[in-house]
Amino acid sequence: MNNFIFENSTKVFFGKGCVKEYLCCLTKAYGDTVMLCYGGGSIKKNGIYDEVTNILEAAGKTVVEFSGIMANPTYAKVLEGAKLAKENDVSLLLGIGGGSVMDCCKAISIAAHYDVDVWEDFWKRPGVFDFEPLPLGVIVTVAGTGSECNGGAVITNEELKIKTGRDYPQCNPKFALLDPTHTYSVPKKQMVSGGFDILSHIMEIYFSEPNEDNVSDDISEALMRSVVRNLRAAIQNPQDYTARSNLMWAATMAENRIIKLGKRMDFECHQMEHQLGAYTNCNHGEGLAVLHPVYYRHIYKYGLPKFKQFATEVMGVSTEGKTDEEIALAGIEALEDFIVEIGLPVSLQDLGVNENTDLKTIADSCALMPGSYKKMTHEEILEIFKRCY
Ligand code: NZQ
Ligand code: ZN
Repeated sequence: MNNFIFENSTKVFFGKGCVKEYLCCLTKAYGDTVMLCYGGGSIKKNGIYDEVTNILEAAGKTVVEFSGIMANPTYAKVLEGAKLAKENDVSLLLGIGGGSVMDCCKAISIAAHYDVDVWEDFWKRPGVFDFEPLPLGVIVTVAGTGSECNGGAVITNEELKIKTGRDYPQCNPKFALLDPTHTYSVPKKQMVSGGFDILSHIMEIYFSEPNEDNVSDDISEALMRSVVRNLRAAIQNPQDYTARSNLMWAATMAENRIIKLGKRMDFECHQMEHQLGAYTNCNHGEGLAVLHPVYYRHIYKYGLPKFKQFATEVMGVSTEGKTDEEIALAGIEALEDFIVEIGLPVSLQDLGVNENTDLKTIADSCALMPGSYKKMTHEEILEIFKRCY
């Protein structure tokens, strides 16, 4: 394994009833004013809003509401939230939702304690902190991004057409409450999108050097098998507690830095999807589902042993009578079959990206990543986008 330093400062509370049991006590450490941050209102329909506001009221907190955080949160929304937090002298941000809410809150936590342009200093390029961001606690309502246990925040700057993420360890939530029953109400389309995002995070790490025997890849294989199995079970029965629990924890495990230890990582598909999202506002997990098989057919020859291992250890491909290359390709095909089986899109048309979209501009806007098996060029990225039609 490559050298590493590991730290994760988020305290996680997992399981049925954890909000009722721990939220009141957790908020005690953070002053009087809580800014309750959420999205388009799903928490009002499924009862989480009432549950949380009752707890905060009983704890004697002043609650400031910040709602309407959109999927793929914008920099403008971050600034709006930071302004509200400053005006009300907020002492704790409490984000309730998925990756979009959590990411927006993390960016607000910096912007609320910083007087200069946070895009310039922290999102345009990695910056250095010499101040404490506003404390953040999260209640996760959809399994997917794993944002609850890292400092990463992906924000879209609509003016510049850039969607980009930065992972500042100081932005790790102070606490994260994960009750799998909160995910029962997630619509199937979003559940499978989040499920594929989990798989994508793991694959982006797994398909990278080193290829030698290492604990991170072993954990990744177990996680990928678990995601495939439990996504199928949750589709069959959305209220399957075991399946929802496993998906929720797999999402956290994929992005709490543990499986990244000693690995180089790729995240090329994420880079391409983020820019596709910046121009088309497509759904994150759906965009990834379209890109992954096409990208992997492009690079598999450069990481053949790992693609073969994925085929046999994760997708259950038989090796009989097949060359290594045929096994690797069968693994990618099995991944594509799974995408179709769970109802995710397989082409840009399915994603709603029409043929007049200027793919070259989008491809050219992608930052060129260090890459792992293969360093990509803008021409290759454009080729991949075109093959997605
Ligand atoms: O807004 P509401 O009404 O709450 O509805 C949301 C939203 O429409 C709905 N939803 C969430 N929980 C629900 C529910 N509906 C019913 N019942 C519930 N319990 O789900 C919809 C999507 O929510 P969103 O937060 O956008 O989804 P997701 O968790 O997939 O987050 C996507 C964002 O996270 C970024 C993505 O790029 C995208 O912007 N990512 C963040 C990462 C990180 N910070 O580590 C890593 C990822 O790779 C990703 O880039
Ligand atoms: Zn993702």
